[in-house]
Amino acid sequence: MKIPTKEECLRILKENNVPGNIIAHLNAVHDFSMKVADILEKRGIIVNRDLVSAGALLHDVKKLSPNDHVLEGYEYVKSLGYPEVAMVIKKHGLAHLDDEGFVPGTWEEKIVFYADKRVKGDKIVSVDERFEYIKQRYFQPTKDLNLSGLKSLQTATNSSDSCSLQYKKEDVENEIDFTKKIEKELLGDEKL
Ligand SMILES: [Fe+2]
Repeated sequence: MKIPTKEECLRILKENNVPGNIIAHLNAVHDFSMKVADILEKRGIIVNRDLVSAGALLHDVKKLSPNDHVLEGYEYVKSLGYPEVAMVIKKHGLAHLDDEGFVPGTWEEKIVFYADKRVKGDKIVSVDERFEYIKQRYFQPTKDLNLSGLKSLQTATNSSDSCSLQYKKEDVENEIDFTKKIEKELLGDEKL
């Protein structure tokens, strides 16, 4: 398995002109992911830490793409010759959870998915806090679909949190349930 080192990941981010605020987010997701890996290892679960590290650092490499940043990131990292890291990226989003191919399955995929949901910007928040923010961002514009509302919807569409204009309240509830199920699997009774 070929996995880029931390230095190589940072170089890839630089080559892609990833802005500082996104790099700060990626570093925070990386550090949080390592703490989740520690908890799993304490339970005797073997985690490929290098894969988690690279997946966490590169998961939003195409965040600013006007298209689906999850798929774009996946394709791009695969094209660099890192198919396993690409799979971690493919499974970090919320937008395609109804499609089996996008559902995190391995420990490494689950760690990066979960860590991304616990980091808002570069701050650690609870799952509930993170989704509260998502709800606010996504539901306000639908009340009054004026020009600024439309702009917010477009912003929402470009974010990792949603890729659909038909984003509904029950979708978010399902995403919260799904994320909390993963949280329980990863952390057990531990708190992070
Ligand atoms: Fe992220």
